[in-house]
Amino acid sequence: MIYRSFSKRQLLAMTWWNRPDLRRFDAIICDGAVRSGKTVCMVVGFFLWSMASFNGNVFALCGKTVASLRRNVVIHLQQWLGGVLDITEHRSDNRLEVRSPDGRKNTYYLFGGQDESSYMLIQGITLAGALLDEAVLMPRSFVEQTCARCSEMGAKLWFNCNPASPEHWFYKEWLEKCREKNALHLHFTMGDNPALPPEVRARYERMYTGHFYRRYVLGQWCGAEGLVYDFDPKRHVTEKLPQSGRYYISVDYGTQNPFSAGLWCVTGDKAYRLREYYYNGREAGRMRTDQEYYEALEDLAGDLPVEQVVIDPSAASFIAVVRKAGRFRVRRANNEVLPGIQMVARLLQTGRLQIGADCKAAIREFSLYCWQSTGERDQPVKENDHAMDDIRYFCMSVLRRTQ
Ligand SMILES: Nc1ncnc2c1ncn2[C@@H]1O[C@H](COP(=O)(O)OP(=O)(O)OP(=O)(O)O)[C@@H](O)[C@H]1O
Ligand SMILES: [Mg+2]
Repeated sequence: MIYRSFSKRQLLAMTWWNRPDLRRFDAIICDGAVRSGKTVCMVVGFFLWSMASFNGNVFALCGKTVASLRRNVVIHLQQWLGGVLDITEHRSDNRLEVRSPDGRKNTYYLFGGQDESSYMLIQGITLAGALLDEAVLMPRSFVEQTCARCSEMGAKLWFNCNPASPEHWFYKEWLEKCREKNALHLHFTMGDNPALPPEVRARYERMYTGHFYRRYVLGQWCGAEGLVYDFDPKRHVTEKLPQSGRYYISVDYGTQNPFSAGLWCVTGDKAYRLREYYYNGREAGRMRTDQEYYEALEDLAGDLPVEQVVIDPSAASFIAVVRKAGRFRVRRANNEVLPGIQMVARLLQTGRLQIGADCKAAIREFSLYCWQSTGERDQPVKENDHAMDDIRYFCMSVLRRTQ
Protein backbone atom coordinates (compact mmCIF):
# COMPACT_ATOMS: atom_id res chain seq x y z
CA MET A 1 0.00 0.00 0.00
CA ILE A 2 1.44 3.37 -1.00
CA TYR A 3 0.44 6.45 0.95
CA ARG A 4 0.14 8.95 -1.86
CA SER A 5 -2.73 10.90 -0.44
CA PHE A 6 -4.61 11.36 2.77
CA SER A 7 -8.19 12.51 3.22
CA LYS A 8 -8.97 15.92 4.65
CA ARG A 9 -9.87 14.46 8.02
CA GLN A 10 -6.73 12.35 8.11
CA LEU A 11 -4.63 15.43 7.35
CA LEU A 12 -6.34 17.26 10.18
CA ALA A 13 -5.61 14.41 12.62
CA MET A 14 -2.00 14.49 11.46
CA THR A 15 -1.31 18.20 11.54
CA TRP A 16 -3.64 19.81 14.13
CA TRP A 17 -0.74 20.40 16.54
CA ASN A 18 0.89 22.65 13.96
CA ARG A 19 -2.15 24.71 12.99
CA PRO A 20 -2.66 28.11 14.61
CA ASP A 21 -6.38 27.49 15.12
CA LEU A 22 -5.96 24.06 16.73
CA ARG A 23 -2.60 23.93 18.44
CA ARG A 24 -4.14 25.13 21.71
CA PHE A 25 -5.72 21.69 22.28
CA ASP A 26 -4.05 19.38 24.79
CA ALA A 27 -5.48 16.21 23.31
CA ILE A 28 -7.05 14.74 20.21
CA ILE A 29 -9.68 12.01 20.09
CA CYS A 30 -10.42 10.27 16.80
CA ASP A 31 -13.37 7.90 17.01
CA GLY A 32 -15.53 6.22 14.43
CA ALA A 33 -15.93 3.33 12.04
CA VAL A 34 -13.50 0.46 11.63
CA ARG A 35 -10.98 0.76 8.79
CA SER A 36 -11.58 4.48 8.52
CA GLY A 37 -7.88 5.33 8.60
CA LYS A 38 -7.64 6.59 12.19
CA THR A 39 -4.60 4.65 13.36
CA VAL A 40 -2.37 5.36 10.42
CA CYS A 41 -2.80 9.14 10.37
CA MET A 42 -2.61 9.48 14.14
CA VAL A 43 0.57 7.49 14.39
CA VAL A 44 2.20 9.51 11.64
CA GLY A 45 0.99 12.75 13.26
CA PHE A 46 2.15 11.65 16.70
CA PHE A 47 5.70 10.98 15.55
CA LEU A 48 5.88 14.16 13.49
CA TRP A 49 4.60 16.24 16.40
CA SER A 50 6.81 14.65 19.04
CA MET A 51 9.95 14.80 16.90
CA ALA A 52 9.29 18.41 15.87
CA SER A 53 8.51 19.57 19.42
CA PHE A 54 10.89 17.62 21.71
CA ASN A 55 14.39 16.29 21.94
CA GLY A 56 15.64 13.73 24.48
CA ASN A 57 12.15 13.02 25.81
CA VAL A 58 10.13 9.92 26.47
CA PHE A 59 6.73 9.01 24.98
CA ALA A 60 4.28 6.15 25.35
CA LEU A 61 2.78 4.21 22.47
CA CYS A 62 -0.11 2.21 23.90
CA GLY A 63 -2.30 -0.47 22.35
CA LYS A 64 -4.67 -3.07 23.69
CA THR A 65 -1.67 -5.39 24.10
CA VAL A 66 1.95 -4.97 23.07
CA ALA A 67 1.38 -7.76 20.54
CA SER A 68 -1.56 -5.96 18.90
CA LEU A 69 0.41 -2.70 18.92
CA ARG A 70 3.28 -4.40 17.11
CA ARG A 71 0.88 -5.89 14.58
CA ASN A 72 -1.15 -2.72 13.93
CA VAL A 73 1.51 -0.07 14.29
CA VAL A 74 5.15 -0.93 14.85
CA ILE A 75 5.68 -3.21 11.87
CA HIS A 76 4.32 -0.50 9.57
CA LEU A 77 6.38 2.37 10.94
CA GLN A 78 9.19 1.95 8.46
CA GLN A 79 6.74 2.17 5.59
CA TRP A 80 4.83 5.11 7.05
CA LEU A 81 7.77 7.17 8.26
CA GLY A 82 10.96 5.51 7.05
CA GLY A 83 11.71 8.28 4.56
CA VAL A 84 11.44 10.99 7.21
CA LEU A 85 12.68 9.49 10.49
CA ASP A 86 15.23 6.91 11.49
CA ILE A 87 13.48 4.32 13.67
CA THR A 88 15.22 1.55 15.62
CA GLU A 89 13.28 -1.01 17.59
CA HIS A 90 14.74 -2.59 20.74
CA ARG A 91 12.41 -5.50 21.15
CA SER A 92 13.74 -6.83 24.42
CA ASP A 93 12.61 -3.76 26.34
CA ASN A 94 9.69 -2.75 24.09
CA ARG A 95 11.38 0.49 23.13
CA LEU A 96 11.85 2.52 19.96
CA GLU A 97 14.61 5.05 19.42
CA VAL A 98 13.71 7.62 16.81
CA ARG A 99 16.05 10.16 15.23
CA SER A 100 15.22 13.05 12.95
CA PRO A 101 17.54 14.30 10.18
CA ASP A 102 18.41 17.39 12.28
CA GLY A 103 19.81 15.21 15.09
CA ARG A 104 16.92 15.10 17.55
CA LYS A 105 16.33 11.88 19.36
CA ASN A 106 13.38 10.62 21.42
CA THR A 107 12.43 7.35 23.06
CA TYR A 108 9.05 5.62 22.73
CA TYR A 109 8.01 2.82 25.04
CA LEU A 110 5.38 0.32 23.96
CA PHE A 111 2.66 -0.51 26.46
CA GLY A 112 -0.30 -2.86 26.32
CA GLY A 113 -3.22 -1.58 28.37
CA GLN A 114 -4.38 -5.11 28.99
CA ASP A 115 -0.92 -6.49 29.75
CA GLU A 116 -0.61 -6.87 33.51
CA SER A 117 2.94 -5.55 33.69
CA SER A 118 2.23 -2.37 31.72
CA TYR A 119 0.43 -0.72 34.56
CA MET A 120 3.43 -1.15 36.84
CA LEU A 121 5.92 -0.01 34.24
CA ILE A 122 4.09 3.15 33.26
CA GLN A 123 3.69 4.23 36.88
CA GLY A 124 7.26 5.37 37.23
CA ILE A 125 7.93 7.40 34.12
CA THR A 126 7.57 11.00 33.03
CA LEU A 127 6.15 11.42 29.55
CA ALA A 128 5.97 14.24 27.04
CA GLY A 129 3.01 12.58 25.33
CA ALA A 130 1.16 9.37 24.69
CA LEU A 131 -0.74 7.77 21.85
CA LEU A 132 -3.48 5.38 22.94
CA ASP A 133 -4.61 3.22 20.05
CA GLU A 134 -8.02 1.61 20.71
CA ALA A 135 -8.34 3.39 24.05
CA VAL A 136 -11.80 1.93 24.69
CA LEU A 137 -10.32 -1.55 25.00
CA MET A 138 -7.94 -0.51 27.79
CA PRO A 139 -8.76 -0.54 31.50
CA ARG A 140 -9.66 2.88 32.81
CA SER A 141 -6.94 2.69 35.46
CA PHE A 142 -4.28 2.24 32.79
CA VAL A 143 -5.51 5.17 30.68
CA GLU A 144 -5.72 7.42 33.72
CA GLN A 145 -2.26 6.45 34.87
CA THR A 146 -0.87 7.16 31.40
CA CYS A 147 -2.53 10.59 31.32
CA ALA A 148 -1.17 11.35 34.77
CA ARG A 149 2.39 10.55 33.61
CA CYS A 150 2.22 13.15 30.83
CA SER A 151 3.62 15.95 32.91
CA GLU A 152 6.22 17.52 30.60
CA MET A 153 5.42 21.05 29.48
CA GLY A 154 3.55 20.91 26.15
CA ALA A 155 2.63 17.24 26.50
CA LYS A 156 -0.31 16.07 24.39
CA LEU A 157 -2.54 12.99 24.40
CA TRP A 158 -3.61 11.20 21.25
CA PHE A 159 -6.56 8.82 21.54
CA ASN A 160 -8.35 6.74 18.97
CA CYS A 161 -11.08 4.16 19.29
CA ASN A 162 -14.14 2.53 17.78
CA PRO A 163 -17.36 3.44 19.55
CA ALA A 164 -18.78 1.34 22.39
CA SER A 165 -21.75 1.91 24.68
CA PRO A 166 -22.51 5.53 25.65
CA GLU A 167 -22.29 4.21 29.22
CA HIS A 168 -18.62 3.46 28.66
CA TRP A 169 -16.34 5.48 30.94
CA PHE A 170 -14.28 6.75 28.00
CA TYR A 171 -17.35 8.23 26.37
CA LYS A 172 -18.48 9.83 29.61
CA GLU A 173 -15.06 11.11 30.68
CA TRP A 174 -13.57 12.17 27.39
CA LEU A 175 -16.14 12.61 24.65
CA GLU A 176 -18.84 14.19 26.77
CA LYS A 177 -16.23 16.33 28.52
CA CYS A 178 -14.20 17.18 25.44
CA ARG A 179 -14.39 20.89 26.04
CA GLU A 180 -13.51 20.67 29.70
CA LYS A 181 -10.51 18.49 28.87
CA ASN A 182 -9.51 20.81 26.04
CA ALA A 183 -9.58 17.94 23.57
CA LEU A 184 -10.19 18.11 19.84
CA HIS A 185 -12.72 15.52 18.69
CA LEU A 186 -12.64 14.20 15.12
CA HIS A 187 -15.20 11.70 13.96
CA PHE A 188 -14.21 9.27 11.20
CA THR A 189 -16.35 7.34 8.73
CA MET A 190 -15.19 4.76 6.22
CA GLY A 191 -15.33 7.50 3.61
CA ASP A 192 -12.38 9.15 5.38
CA ASN A 193 -10.04 6.37 4.30
CA PRO A 194 -9.12 7.11 0.68
CA ALA A 195 -7.52 3.68 0.31
CA LEU A 196 -10.48 1.53 1.29
CA PRO A 197 -11.61 -0.37 -1.82
CA PRO A 198 -15.41 -0.45 -2.26
CA GLU A 199 -15.47 -4.26 -2.09
CA VAL A 200 -13.64 -4.27 1.25
CA ARG A 201 -16.01 -1.65 2.57
CA ALA A 202 -18.96 -3.75 1.39
CA ARG A 203 -17.50 -6.80 3.12
CA TYR A 204 -17.30 -4.93 6.42
CA GLU A 205 -20.83 -3.69 5.95
CA ARG A 206 -22.02 -7.27 5.49
CA MET A 207 -20.05 -8.56 8.43
CA TYR A 208 -21.85 -6.70 11.20
CA THR A 209 -25.46 -6.60 12.33
CA GLY A 210 -27.45 -4.84 15.07
CA HIS A 211 -25.56 -2.54 17.38
CA PHE A 212 -22.21 -3.80 16.08
CA TYR A 213 -23.23 -2.43 12.69
CA ARG A 214 -24.13 0.91 14.18
CA ARG A 215 -20.83 1.11 16.01
CA TYR A 216 -18.33 -0.38 13.60
CA VAL A 217 -19.83 0.63 10.27
CA LEU A 218 -21.75 3.80 11.13
CA GLY A 219 -19.38 4.80 13.91
CA GLN A 220 -22.12 5.55 16.45
CA TRP A 221 -21.86 5.20 20.22
CA CYS A 222 -24.86 3.05 21.04
CA GLY A 223 -25.92 0.53 23.63
CA ALA A 224 -26.53 -3.13 23.06
CA GLU A 225 -30.23 -3.76 23.18
CA GLY A 226 -32.83 -6.30 22.16
CA LEU A 227 -32.06 -9.74 20.85
CA VAL A 228 -28.45 -10.77 20.49
CA TYR A 229 -28.92 -12.50 17.15
CA ASP A 230 -30.79 -11.55 14.05
CA PHE A 231 -32.22 -15.05 13.69
CA ASP A 232 -34.76 -15.70 10.98
CA PRO A 233 -36.27 -19.21 11.01
CA LYS A 234 -37.02 -18.90 7.28
CA ARG A 235 -33.34 -18.37 6.53
CA HIS A 236 -31.62 -20.27 9.30
CA VAL A 237 -33.77 -23.32 9.99
CA THR A 238 -33.64 -26.15 7.52
CA GLU A 239 -35.02 -29.62 6.97
CA LYS A 240 -32.46 -30.35 4.28
CA LEU A 241 -29.53 -31.77 6.18
CA PRO A 242 -26.33 -33.08 4.63
CA GLN A 243 -25.64 -36.82 4.50
CA SER A 244 -21.90 -36.53 4.91
CA GLY A 245 -19.21 -34.13 6.08
CA ARG A 246 -17.05 -33.65 9.15
CA TYR A 247 -18.83 -34.21 12.45
CA TYR A 248 -18.43 -32.42 15.76
CA ILE A 249 -20.28 -32.14 19.04
CA SER A 250 -20.34 -29.02 21.21
CA VAL A 251 -21.34 -29.02 24.87
CA ASP A 252 -22.42 -26.44 27.40
CA TYR A 253 -22.33 -28.27 30.70
CA GLY A 254 -24.75 -27.77 33.57
CA THR A 255 -26.16 -29.78 36.44
CA GLN A 256 -28.30 -27.18 38.20
CA ASN A 257 -28.57 -25.29 34.95
CA PRO A 258 -29.51 -26.96 31.67
CA PHE A 259 -27.01 -29.10 29.78
CA SER A 260 -26.97 -28.48 26.04
CA ALA A 261 -25.15 -30.38 23.29
CA GLY A 262 -25.31 -30.05 19.52
CA LEU A 263 -24.24 -32.49 16.82
CA TRP A 264 -22.74 -30.64 13.85
CA CYS A 265 -21.90 -31.53 10.30
CA VAL A 266 -19.48 -29.24 8.45
CA THR A 267 -19.55 -29.45 4.68
CA GLY A 268 -18.31 -26.93 2.13
CA ASP A 269 -18.52 -23.54 3.79
CA LYS A 270 -21.62 -24.40 5.85
CA ALA A 271 -22.15 -25.89 9.27
CA TYR A 272 -25.39 -27.69 10.11
CA ARG A 273 -26.68 -28.44 13.59
CA LEU A 274 -28.17 -31.85 12.85
CA ARG A 275 -29.54 -32.81 16.25
CA GLU A 276 -29.25 -31.72 19.84
CA TYR A 277 -29.59 -32.94 23.39
CA TYR A 278 -30.95 -30.53 25.99
CA TYR A 279 -31.67 -31.44 29.57
CA ASN A 280 -33.00 -29.17 32.28
CA GLY A 281 -32.46 -30.97 35.58
CA ARG A 282 -34.28 -28.36 37.61
CA GLU A 283 -37.39 -28.54 35.46
CA ALA A 284 -37.29 -32.30 35.26
CA GLY A 285 -36.91 -32.49 39.03
CA ARG A 286 -33.85 -34.74 38.84
CA MET A 287 -30.18 -33.95 38.18
CA ARG A 288 -28.30 -36.23 35.84
CA THR A 289 -24.82 -37.54 36.56
CA ASP A 290 -21.79 -37.02 34.34
CA GLN A 291 -22.05 -40.66 33.32
CA GLU A 292 -25.67 -40.20 32.23
CA TYR A 293 -24.67 -37.11 30.26
CA TYR A 294 -21.90 -39.08 28.64
CA GLU A 295 -24.41 -41.72 27.55
CA ALA A 296 -26.54 -38.95 26.06
CA LEU A 297 -23.51 -37.85 24.00
CA GLU A 298 -23.06 -41.39 22.72
CA ASP A 299 -26.72 -41.45 21.66
CA LEU A 300 -26.37 -38.07 20.00
CA ALA A 301 -23.35 -39.22 18.01
CA GLY A 302 -24.93 -42.56 17.03
CA ASP A 303 -22.36 -44.29 14.86
CA LEU A 304 -21.13 -41.09 13.16
CA PRO A 305 -17.37 -40.51 13.15
CA VAL A 306 -17.27 -37.48 15.45
CA GLU A 307 -13.89 -35.75 15.14
CA GLN A 308 -14.01 -33.70 18.30
CA VAL A 309 -16.22 -32.91 21.24
CA VAL A 310 -15.83 -29.24 22.15
CA ILE A 311 -16.67 -28.69 25.81
CA ASP A 312 -17.22 -25.74 28.08
CA PRO A 313 -13.73 -25.26 29.57
CA SER A 314 -15.04 -25.04 33.14
CA ALA A 315 -16.63 -28.52 33.02
CA ALA A 316 -13.58 -30.31 34.42
CA SER A 317 -15.37 -33.36 35.82
CA PHE A 318 -17.31 -33.97 32.63
CA ILE A 319 -14.23 -33.49 30.45
CA ALA A 320 -12.50 -36.17 32.54
CA VAL A 321 -15.43 -38.58 32.07
CA VAL A 322 -15.48 -38.11 28.29
CA ARG A 323 -11.70 -38.51 28.04
CA LYS A 324 -11.73 -41.63 30.16
CA ALA A 325 -14.38 -43.32 28.00
CA GLY A 326 -11.90 -43.02 25.13
CA ARG A 327 -14.26 -42.73 22.16
CA PHE A 328 -14.11 -38.98 21.53
CA ARG A 329 -11.29 -36.49 21.21
CA VAL A 330 -12.03 -33.68 23.63
CA ARG A 331 -11.21 -30.05 23.11
CA ARG A 332 -11.71 -27.30 25.64
CA ALA A 333 -13.81 -24.60 24.03
CA ASN A 334 -12.67 -21.06 23.43
CA ASN A 335 -14.94 -19.14 25.78
CA GLU A 336 -14.41 -15.50 24.75
CA VAL A 337 -17.96 -14.23 24.89
CA LEU A 338 -18.05 -11.06 22.77
CA PRO A 339 -15.76 -12.22 19.95
CA GLY A 340 -17.76 -15.47 19.98
CA ILE A 341 -21.09 -13.67 19.69
CA GLN A 342 -19.76 -11.56 16.86
CA MET A 343 -18.59 -14.63 15.07
CA VAL A 344 -21.93 -16.45 15.43
CA ALA A 345 -23.72 -13.28 14.26
CA ARG A 346 -21.46 -13.12 11.22
CA LEU A 347 -22.02 -16.77 10.34
CA LEU A 348 -25.78 -16.31 10.60
CA GLN A 349 -25.58 -13.16 8.54
CA THR A 350 -23.76 -14.94 5.71
CA GLY A 351 -26.07 -17.98 5.95
CA ARG A 352 -23.23 -20.31 6.85
CA LEU A 353 -24.80 -21.52 10.08
CA GLN A 354 -27.89 -23.67 9.60
CA ILE A 355 -30.06 -25.16 12.33
CA GLY A 356 -31.89 -28.44 11.78
CA ALA A 357 -35.65 -28.17 12.26
CA ASP A 358 -35.54 -30.69 15.14
CA CYS A 359 -33.24 -28.51 17.25
CA LYS A 360 -36.07 -26.97 19.24
CA ALA A 361 -33.96 -25.72 22.15
CA ALA A 362 -31.57 -23.79 19.92
CA ILE A 363 -34.43 -22.30 17.90
CA ARG A 364 -36.22 -21.29 21.09
CA GLU A 365 -33.15 -19.66 22.61
CA PHE A 366 -32.36 -17.70 19.45
CA SER A 367 -35.70 -15.97 19.90
CA LEU A 368 -35.09 -15.20 23.60
CA TYR A 369 -31.37 -14.56 24.04
CA CYS A 370 -31.01 -10.83 24.62
CA TRP A 371 -28.63 -8.11 25.77
CA GLN A 372 -28.65 -6.58 29.20
CA SER A 373 -29.99 -3.16 28.47
CA THR A 374 -27.73 -1.18 30.81
CA GLY A 375 -24.09 -1.14 31.68
CA GLU A 376 -20.77 -0.03 30.37
CA ARG A 377 -19.94 -3.32 28.71
CA ASP A 378 -21.99 -5.45 26.36
CA GLN A 379 -23.34 -8.41 28.22
CA PRO A 380 -26.00 -10.89 27.26
CA VAL A 381 -28.60 -11.73 29.91
CA LYS A 382 -27.52 -14.99 31.50
CA GLU A 383 -30.76 -16.81 30.76
CA ASN A 384 -31.83 -18.92 27.83
CA ASP A 385 -28.18 -19.11 26.92
CA HIS A 386 -27.26 -22.80 27.09
CA ALA A 387 -27.71 -23.82 23.46
CA MET A 388 -26.41 -20.33 22.64
CA ASP A 389 -23.21 -21.11 24.52
CA ASP A 390 -22.67 -24.52 22.95
CA ILE A 391 -23.18 -22.96 19.49
CA ARG A 392 -20.69 -20.23 20.31
CA TYR A 393 -18.13 -22.78 21.54
CA PHE A 394 -18.52 -24.74 18.32
CA CYS A 395 -18.12 -21.69 16.10
CA MET A 396 -15.15 -20.26 17.99
CA SER A 397 -13.33 -23.54 18.38
CA VAL A 398 -14.06 -25.33 15.11
CA LEU A 399 -15.10 -22.76 12.50
CA ARG A 400 -12.77 -19.96 13.47
CA ARG A 401 -10.00 -20.88 11.07
CA THR A 402 -12.32 -21.30 8.12
CA GLN A 403 -14.30 -18.08 8.25
N1 LIG B 1 -4.31 7.53 3.21
C1 LIG B 1 -4.09 6.21 3.13
N2 LIG B 1 -3.37 5.70 2.11
C2 LIG B 1 -3.15 4.38 1.99
N3 LIG B 1 -3.61 3.46 2.89
C3 LIG B 1 -4.33 3.92 3.92
C4 LIG B 1 -4.61 5.30 4.11
N4 LIG B 1 -5.35 5.44 5.24
C5 LIG B 1 -5.52 4.20 5.73
N5 LIG B 1 -4.92 3.29 4.95
C6 LIG B 1 -4.93 1.82 5.16
O1 LIG B 1 -6.27 1.42 5.43
C7 LIG B 1 -6.33 0.44 6.46
C8 LIG B 1 -7.17 0.95 7.64
O2 LIG B 1 -6.53 2.07 8.22
P1 LIG B 1 -6.36 2.18 9.81
O3 LIG B 1 -5.83 0.94 10.38
O4 LIG B 1 -5.61 3.44 10.07
O5 LIG B 1 -7.89 2.34 10.19
P2 LIG B 1 -8.57 2.43 11.64
O6 LIG B 1 -9.60 3.49 11.53
O7 LIG B 1 -7.53 2.56 12.68
O8 LIG B 1 -9.27 1.01 11.70
P3 LIG B 1 -9.74 0.18 13.02
O9 LIG B 1 -10.84 0.98 13.64
O10 LIG B 1 -10.22 -1.08 12.39
O11 LIG B 1 -8.52 0.06 13.89
C9 LIG B 1 -4.88 0.15 6.85
O12 LIG B 1 -4.43 -0.96 6.11
C10 LIG B 1 -4.15 1.42 6.41
O13 LIG B 1 -2.80 1.18 6.14
MG1 LIG C 1 -7.04 1.34 14.30
